[in-house]
Amino acid sequence: MLAQTPPMGWNSWNTFGWKDLHADVVQETIDAFISEGLKDAGYEYVVIDDTWQANDRVDGKLTWDEDRFPNGIKPLADYAHSKGLKFGIYSCAGTHTCAGKPGSFGYEEIDAQTFADWEVDFLKYDACYIPANSHNPTLYKRMGQALRATGRPILYSICEWGNHQPWEWAAETGGHMWRTTGDIEDSWKSILEIGFRKQIGKHPYAGPGGWNDPDMLVIGMHGKGNVAAGGCTDAEYRSHFGLWCLLAAPLMIGCDARHMSPLARELLLNPRLIAVNQDPLGRQGYRVGQVEYAWEMMDVWAKPLADGSIAVGLFNLGDTRTQKIPMSWEALGLHDRRPCQITNLWTGDDLGVHTRSFFAEIAPHDSLIIKITPQN
Ligand code: GLA
Repeated sequence: MLAQTPPMGWNSWNTFGWKDLHADVVQETIDAFISEGLKDAGYEYVVIDDTWQANDRVDGKLTWDEDRFPNGIKPLADYAHSKGLKFGIYSCAGTHTCAGKPGSFGYEEIDAQTFADWEVDFLKYDACYIPANSHNPTLYKRMGQALRATGRPILYSICEWGNHQPWEWAAETGGHMWRTTGDIEDSWKSILEIGFRKQIGKHPYAGPGGWNDPDMLVIGMHGKGNVAAGGCTDAEYRSHFGLWCLLAAPLMIGCDARHMSPLARELLLNPRLIAVNQDPLGRQGYRVGQVEYAWEMMDVWAKPLADGSIAVGLFNLGDTRTQKIPMSWEALGLHDRRPCQITNLWTGDDLGVHTRSFFAEIAPHDSLIIKITPQN
């Protein structure tokens, strides 16, 4: 059974885009998964995005761009497997991919079989150039059936940008994750829009086997790469990772994993945050409430965990001042007098036993992720 917890891995798009994707990058990223400890932390799928393909099919089949992938695709999948990792690829439900390469429309069975022959483990399936009057759920179902018919377990990642409410139908087409929004950019504005605003109310649709996908991580991009948009501060990247973990979002790294910054390592490899994301209960976090003080917003998000504790994020979304963000037991469904032990999940520090409420002072755009464990 695939995707019983949110998928974890890396995808080439955020950093390498259409221009800089090459076999060397992929092979070196696979090596970095081992040397940087990403594999040990749970990251598994190495996924190549658009522009791996040649411009034309050969005998009706997709084939690779020989300049970029001189030895083809299968050796890379084999290399990933030899390191205990999984390999993913990209195609599109339309006649062409977003980069104008051949799409899978009308070739679903052939392409699914090609991917299975190459021992691919993951398909990201995009939505450019879908012919007018086509019905997205039908097209995604066709590919879902074609993948199943190969007999190979291939994780199916649906990318139609949330245009047709995929959270309502993507799981039925065989999807294991589905984008809920357009593309993320490396900016706080984008994280606010895609992460905080557009995920509100989506939590009932996610769970083991099928996850809402607010797009790949921009942590560690620091204003460089294909989705550059000014970059984020350390506090903003911290809030981004904290929120994605609470959202039970797929954790697909988007930075250059071969050259991670110290901050990217610190965030992406935090075992307590990853454990929240991968918690077996599989509940997606929801927004408990929003507080406004002097025209600045503060969000509280909560994710119930399998052991009866609750992971909570206190986020200062305001731009100018440090805020005291309060969180009451009542808002979380806990009895006021219930003693609860609180742990800072970034550091592991014990913040003591509290009743009724807890608050923390949070700098602009920063956050604190805590675990609240009710005591008997
Ligand atoms: C779309 C997707 C992106 C990426 C590009 C590739 O924009 O949303 O994630 O896959 O296409 O062309």
